[in-house]
Amino acid sequence: MEKYHNWNWTDKEEVGSTNDEALALSKEVTDGKYIISAKMQNQGRGRRGRSWIGLEGNLFMSLLVKVPLSQLGEIIFVVSLSLLESIKNLFPDIDIKLKWPNDVLVKGCKVSGILMEKGEGDYLIIGIGVNIAQSPKIEGLIYPAVSLADNGYKTDRITLLKEYLSCFDKNFDILQNSGFEAIRSVWLSHVKGLGEQIEVRGTKENKIGIFKDIDKNGFLLLETNKGIEKICAGDIFYI
Ligand code: BTN
Repeated sequence: MEKYHNWNWTDKEEVGSTNDEALALSKEVTDGKYIISAKMQNQGRGRRGRSWIGLEGNLFMSLLVKVPLSQLGEIIFVVSLSLLESIKNLFPDIDIKLKWPNDVLVKGCKVSGILMEKGEGDYLIIGIGVNIAQSPKIEGLIYPAVSLADNGYKTDRITLLKEYLSCFDKNFDILQNSGFEAIRSVWLSHVKGLGEQIEVRGTKENKIGIFKDIDKNGFLLLETNKGIEKICAGDIFYI
């Protein structure tokens, strides 16, 4: 394990899932912040039981951090905003947006995925995958995928990882010192589709309405013919 700023960092050659590695680590440690990255991941997991394909040159990493229970709903905004900012810091002219709850879009296509899971004790596992060099070219993706390289933006996983940690540390401090509103307002300034019609596909039903806001709990407020509805989970599509 090596040190990078205040992080304990392990970079592995090949893993099943960096989230599983982080879970195992959370059972061994009691203090500190950790990050596990891998050159290749062959059993990557995505949200809602989906899989995340490991392609060479892409970034696979999991952060292991202690987050107070009261901030669990807020931290996802820190995680995704930091990802957007880290990519934008490397490529200031990039067309990059956030998609609720936790996707980052480049030219409207999904460039990354975030999977947060519970670790041992009060550790939270924040798994992040970024299509740096390649994007999956397969049928049946629920949202079109893209890589940074597809758009001519060349970097490597270690450069982005380090930039990400700086942005995460900065935004985590803002959350602790100034509260969620300070993060929410910046996050909203980067979101795609605010004030526009969207479709939210949930596990039980789909809803169409105007994307009005993100509330103080991080829920999406959707104006439908039934009034303002609070959405806690789902996949967004722009229509
Ligand atoms: C999504 O469905 O959009 C979330 C994908 C999350 C993928 C990352 S890659 C690193 C970490 N390890 C995993 O198994 N999944 C996450």
